[in-house]
Amino acid sequence: ANKKLLILPGDGIGPEVMREVRRVIDWMDRRRMVSFDISDDHVGGAGIDAYGEPITDATMQKAKDADAILFGSVGGPKWDKLGFQLRPEIAILRLRKELDLFANLRPATVLEPLVDASTLKPEVVRGLDLMIVRESTGGIYFGEPRGVEELPDGQKRGFDTETYTTNEIERVGRVAFELARKRQNRVCSVEKANVMQSGLFWRQTMTALREREFPDVELSHMYADNCAMQLVRNPRQFDVIVTSNIFGDLLSDLASMLTGSLGMLPSATLGAVQASGKRHALYEPIHGSAPDIAGKGIANPLGQLLSFAMLLRYSFNMDEDAALIETACTNVLRNGLRTADIMAPGSARVGTGVMGESILRE
Ligand code: NAI
Ligand code: MG
Repeated sequence: ANKKLLILPGDGIGPEVMREVRRVIDWMDRRRMVSFDISDDHVGGAGIDAYGEPITDATMQKAKDADAILFGSVGGPKWDKLGFQLRPEIAILRLRKELDLFANLRPATVLEPLVDASTLKPEVVRGLDLMIVRESTGGIYFGEPRGVEELPDGQKRGFDTETYTTNEIERVGRVAFELARKRQNRVCSVEKANVMQSGLFWRQTMTALREREFPDVELSHMYADNCAMQLVRNPRQFDVIVTSNIFGDLLSDLASMLTGSLGMLPSATLGAVQASGKRHALYEPIHGSAPDIAGKGIANPLGQLLSFAMLLRYSFNMDEDAALIETACTNVLRNGLRTADIMAPGSARVGTGVMGESILRE
């Protein structure tokens, strides 16, 4: 059977960068490297415009049936005034929740040549290749109780709850340990065991999991604040970092800036392996819909293309094809091609389409 791929371009530059992925897929198709069963749909603001909601039940069903989902980005000023229940972002939140996509993989890889040496410290980031695994369906962003309550003295109190169960920690831990085995075999687990009860529990659970199932993988522990500092000071000390939802949110954004551009970084979010052997997975660039440059044809398509490469690697075991795309991206950069966001002095400035064509040629 053909591999079922659902493409959800979304809003803003989403459809613009997705077009370049479609060209690569068409090229692969013509060479009979692969036959996908592709469907696409409108989500986010585009979903609101087309169907009156950010993501419909029918689209959700397509997502559940798909072997992998390639997502663009959602949101924009056009839909900002519709209120909390009709935010374009609901599309991605609902996908994560209903497909139980609990492990968010955010690589921070520095491609050569460096995109713009003036914003990076070459001696610190050259050759960087780290992977942050962020727990993405639990922790303080979802924990109960939460709310704002009135206090007897007339003040109010806002509160959220950080909570993790054994199972929630172990399943994201397994993803991290398994990834490490294919890399440098080192996992650093990050929490605040010094000041948080849930952090201490996280540390103990990871330690026990490693002893039981991954004794061959090296495990270290680090406090989250120290990790932030170490990422800036010496990021190459890390191989795989595994951490909670909120710490992963902050640390992965920090790590992305070590690489020089939001526009070039992919991500994957994986669900549990089901009895059928199938695992839900969604791939998207880390950048948003970039309304400030939407429609101008200048967006960098590399983040979306590299997200597709991750999809080939993790969902379809097509490592060689993934590497082909990754190498093409590196070669295009080496040839000096730059979209505006990663321009260094003296390099050619090209638009989305030329970048995509050059990738195809490589
Ligand atoms: P953003 O990532 O869209 O843009 C931040 C800055 O980076 C902008 O100046 C933009 O022009 C630039 N940029 C981003 N991607 C680029 C690319 N591929 N090529 C060249 N330049 C690029 O983040 P921002 O501005 O905070 O959010 C804009 C909208 O996107 C909001 O509605 C936000 O909610 C949404 N968003 C959606 C996400 C998603 O769909 N998962 C993730 C982050 C933001
Ligand atoms: Mg964030």
